[in-house]
Amino acid sequence: MKHYVITGGAGFIGSNLIRNLLQQGEELTITCIDKLDDFYSVAIKEQHIQEFKKSKQFRFLRIDIDTATVSALEELILEPVDVIIHLAAKTGVRPSLSNPLAYQQTNIRGTQLMLDFSRAKKCHQFIFASSSSVYGENKNFPWKETEPLLPISPYAMTKLSGEMLGHIYHHIYGLRFIALRFFTVYGPGQRPDLAIHKFVKNILEEKSISFFGKGASSRDYTYIDDIVQGIKAAIAYTNSGFEIINLGNNKSIVLHKLVAEIEEVLKKNATIHYLPEQPGEVHSTFADITKAKDLLGYQPKMKLKDGLQLFYDWYVTNRDLLNS
Ligand SMILES: NC(=O)c1ccc[n+]([C@@H]2O[C@H](COP(=O)([O-])OP(=O)(O)OC[C@H]3O[C@@H](n4cnc5c(N)ncnc54)[C@H](O)[C@@H]3O)[C@@H](O)[C@H]2O)c1
Repeated sequence: MKHYVITGGAGFIGSNLIRNLLQQGEELTITCIDKLDDFYSVAIKEQHIQEFKKSKQFRFLRIDIDTATVSALEELILEPVDVIIHLAAKTGVRPSLSNPLAYQQTNIRGTQLMLDFSRAKKCHQFIFASSSSVYGENKNFPWKETEPLLPISPYAMTKLSGEMLGHIYHHIYGLRFIALRFFTVYGPGQRPDLAIHKFVKNILEEKSISFFGKGASSRDYTYIDDIVQGIKAAIAYTNSGFEIINLGNNKSIVLHKLVAEIEEVLKKNATIHYLPEQPGEVHSTFADITKAKDLLGYQPKMKLKDGLQLFYDWYVTNRDLLNS
């Protein structure tokens, strides 16, 4: 019986991963660590945990990785740990500009804690949620993992720091460390601060949506189930000791085109409010996913229109909880 420790498991990506793992009927137990922070609706995170608690394979520990210690974690988690999947983080580029120290505390200190915990537990596999934001304003599209990196926000810097910390633990202690650079993830459960969620909510409520810049920026939107498949493949990966891998969709969609697709799904038109470009946000993202295909057999499947429909269905079902 494998034992996975998943941090941030109450959040968007983590809850989709845990649901998938529990539904597959695999021989495993999951310890989820999450502080249930109030960056967005805590009610939706609690709903995820309540759902998972129905399974005997699942255990929840409400822990803040900003302040927890390795010994405190060891006292609570007595069993051996096979894999740590470290997703907990302070997320979002723009809020990181107003509170950069808090981002360092959670994303760098918290990652250091989980790496030290992996050492203490002699856990040999560590999956880290990195981000496309580490590439910064690089125009050499699509981005390969070998591109030079120059983050332009405190959030992106903390994600790059996490990758570098992982390299140190691989180099010195032989930990297998796999950083997955996620490219704008969307689908059921998506965070309310992300564009697709905000656009759907505002269009349905007949409020305007904000475009920063002229709407010419673009993102490589990746559906959550494709990301979950990529994470599961990384959990199973054993061929080398340190890898950094893009998980994207290999399509960069301009903001205007995204909104047109959302309008079609919602059968409603958006009112667009133009604002200046936001400092810290990169203009475009676009993943080369050759390495993910080669190493993980990763093959994103979801078409944008279908993924938007699935997000919309989820949003309508959970609207009250999200606004609570
Ligand atoms: N969603 C995306 O498009 C995207 C893109 C790139 C990278 N990522 C990364 O993927 C990971 C998951 O992102 P998400 O979109 O699911 O975010 P999310 O905010 O939904 O999930 C993060 C979870 O971490 C928890 N958390 C925050 N601070 C904590 C702390 N101090 N101690 C314990 N738990 C804490 C939160 O309560 C939350 O449940 C993050 O590391 C994020 O940086 C996400």
